[in-house]
Amino acid sequence: MQPIPLAELSLFKRQFHQLSGYNLENYKNVQMDRRLQEYMQAARCETLQAFFDYLRDRPAEVRRFLDELSINVSEFFRNPERFQELRQKILPELLSKRSRLRIWSAGCSVGAEIFSLVMLMEHLGIADQCHFVASDIDREAVEQARSGIFLPDLLHNVNKTDISTFFEPCSLNNRHDAYCFKPQWRQKVHFIHHDLLQDDYPGNFDLIACRNVMIYFTREAKHRVYQHFYQSLREGGVLFVGGAEQLIQAQEIGYNRLSSYFYQRQKLGRV
Ligand SMILES: C[S@@+](CC[C@H](N)C(=O)[O-])C[C@H]1O[C@@H](n2cnc3c(N)ncnc32)[C@H](O)[C@@H]1O
Repeated sequence: MQPIPLAELSLFKRQFHQLSGYNLENYKNVQMDRRLQEYMQAARCETLQAFFDYLRDRPAEVRRFLDELSINVSEFFRNPERFQELRQKILPELLSKRSRLRIWSAGCSVGAEIFSLVMLMEHLGIADQCHFVASDIDREAVEQARSGIFLPDLLHNVNKTDISTFFEPCSLNNRHDAYCFKPQWRQKVHFIHHDLLQDDYPGNFDLIACRNVMIYFTREAKHRVYQHFYQSLREGGVLFVGGAEQLIQAQEIGYNRLSSYFYQRQKLGRV
């Protein structure tokens, strides 16, 4: 596949911004190029201009294309060892200062991450005292998360006891081996549509998990998002990031690096 010439890509981004209000400048060109070409092929458009015309005439496709740009892959307790670190090292310190935690899963996809956090807090006996927020740019993912229904492949890190405590069997798309996160736990989470690159940020969080979300963001966009998270954390609050998302300029923003995946807003924060 030949890469799309940069001038054409820039024109498309400008046109798309005008059409949809979404600014694709914050996404890396390489990934954008690959996804665009896949989508163009599926839509049988030979040029980017033809693809733009195709999108302009089909508002529903604009939404599908945006969803396509954001990959929703997720699972319960993704990278279990990091949840262990969270449980054993990070949470005890947070809980030594405050018994009611505000927790945000930013880029929550279908909800597996925030429900994992609900389960973790329930194991610690404090889920009732916590406030859980989960957000994503992809409206369909948010709807799916709200439904709390999962196929078994997302649950392979959940043991049998927890499956029977937190889930009930249900059906999804003619499959009868799905699981539904029980309403009593599901209702603890406040799901919202939120674009990390455009919207105002909610605040006063003790823990923000933003994992495997920014891999396609440019370096500048990532830096801005990390600054926003800093403002959204309480003093001493912790940002939990994914494998490819370690903060290079953590100190410059004001974070204290606790480990590769956890960054703390310094106690005397520079606001
Ligand atoms: C790979 S999933 C990660 C899900 C979960 N955090 C995890 O690690 O399992 C990435 C999610 O980021 C969301 N996303 C991408 N760009 C976003 C943006 N600008 N604002 C909010 N969410 C975004 C996508 O819609 C997708 O659901």
